[in-house]
Amino acid sequence: MSHTLLVTSSPRGTDSLSTRFATEIAEGIQTRSGGPLTVRDLTANPPPHITPAYIQGRITSPEDRTPEQVAAVKVAQDLVDELKLADVIVLGSGMINFGPSSQLKAWFDHVTWPRVTFGYGDTGPKGLLTGKKVYLVTASGGVFSEGAWAPFDFQTNYLLHLLGFIGLTNVEVVRVEGTVLGPDAVKVAIANAETAIKALLATAA
Ligand SMILES: Cc1cc2nc3c(=O)[nH]c(=O)nc-3n(C[C@H](O)[C@H](O)[C@H](O)COP(=O)(O)O)c2cc1C
Repeated sequence: MSHTLLVTSSPRGTDSLSTRFATEIAEGIQTRSGGPLTVRDLTANPPPHITPAYIQGRITSPEDRTPEQVAAVKVAQDLVDELKLADVIVLGSGMINFGPSSQLKAWFDHVTWPRVTFGYGDTGPKGLLTGKKVYLVTASGGVFSEGAWAPFDFQTNYLLHLLGFIGLTNVEVVRVEGTVLGPDAVKVAIANAETAIKALLATAA
């Protein structure tokens, strides 16, 4: 029985394909494992931008924190606790101006936390959230997995780097690409995602 955490972040609401397919994966895994599913909707409840209270609060011992710092650090602590509890994390991201949405960036700004989710080893930074499986669904208007636009994919590659930095290295990616290239391209993108999800759910724990 595994605990699944679904994190969605597209600002496109019910039109979002990353939310749709990430939800499909998370619910599929939950059905198979029989474990709990926690949903973190970063669009409905966006984490705030990080502030001086958060930066200072993180490096201040709990008993010395101001009320503002306590509140700011609690936001991050709750998000980190949710991540730590999960065995499987399903992350949905829709491309906004070549990168992830600012909601998802704000989430990473909270969960990327020295000595909590990554440490400094002898050979450099070391991710601490190990032993978890991640499914990353990235949607984009254009095609970035290959071709002329590939160098401008600051979404999938960036998210893989951030996940790996905090120790989440076992990541399976589902790309939903070309979603603004017309109805035929959308049909192909959806069909490809459905095929990929069917295959990954067949082998998921
Ligand atoms: C404000 C905004 C900015 C966008 N910027 C880009 C972009 O830079 N490159 C791109 O290929 N598509 C861009 N798109 C298209 C989205 O990536 C596309 O609609 C994708 O399907 C969004 O993910 P979602 O379906 O999960 O919402 C943008 C869409 C919006 C609404």
